[in-house]
Amino acid sequence: MARILTGIQASGVPHLGNILGAILPAIKLSQNPQNESFLFIADLHSMTTIKDAKVMKENTLAVAAAWLACGFDAEKNFFYRQSRLAGYHTELMWYLNCQTPYPMLANAHSFKDKSDRLSDVNAGLFTYPVLQAADIVLYGANFVPVGKDQRQHLEMSKDIAAIFNRTYGEVLTLPDPLIDETVMLIPGTDGTKMSKSYNNYINIFLSEKPLLKAVKSIISDSTPLEEPKNPDTDVTFKLFSLLAEQSEIEEMRLKYLAGGFGYGHAKQALFDVLWKKFEKEREVFNYYMANEEALEAKLKHGEAKAREIAEKTIYGVRSVLGYV
Ligand code: ADP
Ligand code: TRP
Repeated sequence: MARILTGIQASGVPHLGNILGAILPAIKLSQNPQNESFLFIADLHSMTTIKDAKVMKENTLAVAAAWLACGFDAEKNFFYRQSRLAGYHTELMWYLNCQTPYPMLANAHSFKDKSDRLSDVNAGLFTYPVLQAADIVLYGANFVPVGKDQRQHLEMSKDIAAIFNRTYGEVLTLPDPLIDETVMLIPGTDGTKMSKSYNNYINIFLSEKPLLKAVKSIISDSTPLEEPKNPDTDVTFKLFSLLAEQSEIEEMRLKYLAGGFGYGHAKQALFDVLWKKFEKEREVFNYYMANEEALEAKLKHGEAKAREIAEKTIYGVRSVLGYV
């Protein structure tokens, strides 16, 4: 049995790129009976950038609702908010802080990048990777599925845990990242990587009109309707190919090549497939967003389960530190 763990920042409603690139692959891993999955909302990490309590809460609920809507089984697995187990996460973080060499943090790419970009360069941004290491080793995770951008954070987690073990004995499980190099980057409406930060994303949970509007905003060239078009360079076609059936994709390709088929037609077809494919997800997402107590109940249940494991690790760690 392998322990798989991943954290998701509370940064808003997950978009199509997050869903295809991260959520659905993680859910697939969690469905393997050989695995035990821990999925948590990294809402303490989000505090490095989100300073508005209302936004924090809304984002947290939206992320949780999206994972449940996409099929994460919160009964079989572990599903929780990091902030509700903050005592354990931050206690272990402190122990790990005292093992982490300062230059490791000072040279981290993400810290350098964020401190160049952000006006608020707080200490939380600096020690962010240590909290991440604590999140992981607290539950004895073996594998951590993440995107490529998290590679260095995962290397640091493993290094920090290894330093701890060299000092105090083999107490912590060393985690390895699971990075799927084949996951393609889903393009956004402007053709660059779909991202919350570029405002080019498609929110699949939207109702009909705004969803259609988002799809219509996808970039296209100015080839006239009657002329043939290149499907391989077109964003609408790319997104359609990620979602539609093989026969529909082939059919659409021929229409592009034949001419007489406009980008407006292609966008309508993309909207139709998005609308139909995610019907159930939309329903479940909206249910949880409108029934906060039901969502709370799922999270509370997960938090109680996770607490038992976190507590065990913390007692083990305290005892090797001479605190028991
Ligand atoms: P964003 O860029 O919208 O802020 P995050 O950096 O929070 O997204 O990414 C969360 C997860 O979703 C990561 O695992 C990341 O690899 C994945 N992801 C984000 N955008 C895309 C995309 N356009 N295509 C594929 N996967 C993506
Ligand atoms: N840093 C991760 C991100 O931005 C989120 C995260 C926090 C995480 N703790 C984690 C991911 C532990 C994996 C494991 O995407």
